[in-house]
Amino acid sequence: MTRSTPVSLPTDDVPVLPNWPVLAQRALPDENASDALAARLAAALQPGETLLLSGALGAGKTHIARALIRAWTGRADEPVPSPTFTLVQTYDTPKGEVWHADLYRLADPQELLELGLDDALGAALCLIEWPDRMAPDWPDAYLLHLERQADDTRQATLYGRDDQPPAARLTKALSE
Ligand SMILES: Nc1ncnc2c1ncn2[C@@H]1O[C@H](COP(=O)(O)OP(=O)(O)OP(=O)(O)O)[C@@H](O)[C@H]1O
Ligand SMILES: [Mg+2]
Repeated sequence: MTRSTPVSLPTDDVPVLPNWPVLAQRALPDENASDALAARLAAALQPGETLLLSGALGAGKTHIARALIRAWTGRADEPVPSPTFTLVQTYDTPKGEVWHADLYRLADPQELLELGLDDALGAALCLIEWPDRMAPDWPDAYLLHLERQADDTRQATLYGRDDQPPAARLTKALSE
């Protein structure tokens, strides 16, 4: 099934956020707080769900994805390279397949379709950095937007449709 239509998008560094309601917000004072949030998100997310990670360069998107993937693999030392150049890294885990994508350098959205992202969406757990590089039509996705504050802490904001089942789980993960 074709779930998204590739379109040309602006390539500046300002994230284009979908027009979804804010579900929750949380301060992340240091890397440990980001790790703890990632662990709670890992427990809340299920196979077939998509978490988009937005925010400027260095906001902490890969940090969250890495901790989340390690929670799913059950290996704290799992190498999780940033997929900046490969676009996609996949992981077989006891909880199911995980796709980690970074679309920052995506030249043509067709590339991702060729890599099989369309099939992975809705089947694997998909963690997608720089989602605004692709079509804005991300079905059933939630978006965690990370913002670096003046004091170098991070602020996390969860966006998504509040009438879908993952909303309550993910909101709880941010609130705990
Ligand atoms: N809550 C936090 N407080 C302070 N520093 C943090 C926090 N979370 C992550 N960092 C640090 O921010 C830096 C950048 O993180 P990361 O590489 O995950 O950014 P990114 O958003 O993936 O950037 P890019 O868009 O370039 O891939 C890392 O050094 C990481 O340790
Ligand atoms: Mg990154």
